[in-house]
Amino acid sequence: MSTTAKATARAGSNIAFIKYWGVADASLNLPLNNSISMTLGDLYTTTTVEWDPDSPLNADTLQIDGAAATGSKAERVSRHLDRVAQLAGIDRPPARVASHNNFPMASGIASSASAFAALSVAAAAALGLHLDTRALSALARKGSGSASRSLFGGYVEWERGCDDASSIAHPLQPADHWALIDLVAVVSTAEKTVSSASGHTLAHTSPLNTARIASLDRALAQVRSALATRNLAELGPAIEQDALAMHAVMMTSSPSLLYWQPATLAILQAVRRWRANEGLPVYFTIDAGPNVHLICEPAAAAAVSSRLQQLDGVQAVLSSGPGAGTTLIQEALF
Ligand code: PMV
Repeated sequence: MSTTAKATARAGSNIAFIKYWGVADASLNLPLNNSISMTLGDLYTTTTVEWDPDSPLNADTLQIDGAAATGSKAERVSRHLDRVAQLAGIDRPPARVASHNNFPMASGIASSASAFAALSVAAAAALGLHLDTRALSALARKGSGSASRSLFGGYVEWERGCDDASSIAHPLQPADHWALIDLVAVVSTAEKTVSSASGHTLAHTSPLNTARIASLDRALAQVRSALATRNLAELGPAIEQDALAMHAVMMTSSPSLLYWQPATLAILQAVRRWRANEGLPVYFTIDAGPNVHLICEPAAAAAVSSRLQQLDGVQAVLSSGPGAGTTLIQEALF
């Protein structure tokens, strides 16, 4: 084992404009479709990994936001550490892992994307294992599909691919290409009852899934073109439509997944009212939960944020622009 047994990485979460929903291969997290996202610069996870052959417990330990984590969360991290050791071709020692989110975990922001991107980069570096960003993206994907995109900064596309090596993300536009803002309206802080990992395996049970997938080539092209030309009026309708299509698939799966709360729908109605009545250029998207992400340009952000805070049921508003990809940093968490 290399002498560099400890490393720390920082990864931004991301918000998908065209969603990843549904797996073709659940063990490798090969998706049914390409997806496109913006890596968030201001909502990120920092993770320190230390491989410790002398661990007194002879087991992995995991801390998230200062508290010991056990059960399925810890097992998922241990399985990911197994993958990293397997790539390095070693019989692995136990690891000590600490992770910190700069946003409340209970805020409903997808923390698995930033968590598995940071864990992949820190764990590989701590082993002295040099992987290029393509290999890191494939590795992160197996922890959480959306983590494959957080390896890269700015605007990113994850190619569906057909096997482990080809299902990886790549940058479409750098972060400084377009200063879009994601305002996250938090309406519930409850942990979701059905994780996205199990939701992905249900997508094919919806009669609407085939129709959504068939429509995506066009939607992906529209989003790529809108990003290239910084055209919010072209981007917005495409992201709203895919968020609604994904939730239609979720709602019509067996069993049915209904992530929305009354406040979710109230925000969608408000966004459309602000656009129609006031010409406010803002569009929505929603992940696998009840919180709503509002996408706008900096000039509209203050107006959108203050309107959001006046809506019943909005508990908090978080904000982020595009940011950098996953990087190693010097400041360790322990
Ligand atoms: O990476 P996962 O398994 O948490 O799935 C993410 C699913 C969505 O957030 C709903 C969509 C996406 O592309 O991020």
